[in-house]
Amino acid sequence: MTKVGIVVGSLRKDSYSRKIAENVAKLFPEGYETEFIEIGNLPLYNEEYDGNSPEEYQSFREAVSAVNAVLFVTPEYNRSVPGVLKNAIDVGSRPYGESVWDAKPAAVVSQSISNLSGFGANHHLRQSLVFLNMPVLQQPEVYLANSQDLIDESGNISNEQTTQFLQSFVDAFVDFMNRF
Ligand code: FNR
Repeated sequence: MTKVGIVVGSLRKDSYSRKIAENVAKLFPEGYETEFIEIGNLPLYNEEYDGNSPEEYQSFREAVSAVNAVLFVTPEYNRSVPGVLKNAIDVGSRPYGESVWDAKPAAVVSQSISNLSGFGANHHLRQSLVFLNMPVLQQPEVYLANSQDLIDESGNISNEQTTQFLQSFVDAFVDFMNRF
């Protein structure tokens, strides 16, 4: 069984990112298990904690260590990655030399309620992932715009073309993961 951790860059209860992530999770084939790894309870990263990390840091690091790959689904805040997601990335990257992200294949989905589709967040996130030595799926890139029009009242993606596109993304991610 290949385990895929899903990290969502929004803490909002009605988050479109989370709803999109839930839809994407359903598209993985047999043999793949998805697990949401929560980041909202992580205290702000402080290097002084490296010797004696808060329990939340430990469980988060263990959860990331336990998966084979990571899917990030995020909105854009002020043309970049939401602070809560950057905090989680920083927590997982330390203590120095013990990063739990190292060498794990990753993929990125960004979304926005505007036409911009989270391009800035998507690429700032990729910059961190390169440094963390995470091979990141290059194509297809996923930028979802006007998310409020994509999701119906039950939280499902209402547009068949988008679902087909997301299926092609998951298929490419599965092929990509199998290379490592
Ligand atoms: C935003 N939003 C936003 N949208 C965008 O396309 N580019 C941006 O730079 C920003 N900046 C931004 C900053 C802050 C602080 C907030 C709260 C919002 C709007 C954003 O796309 C929208 O709120 C999404 O719905 C957030 O994603 P979730 O919470 O629905 O997953």
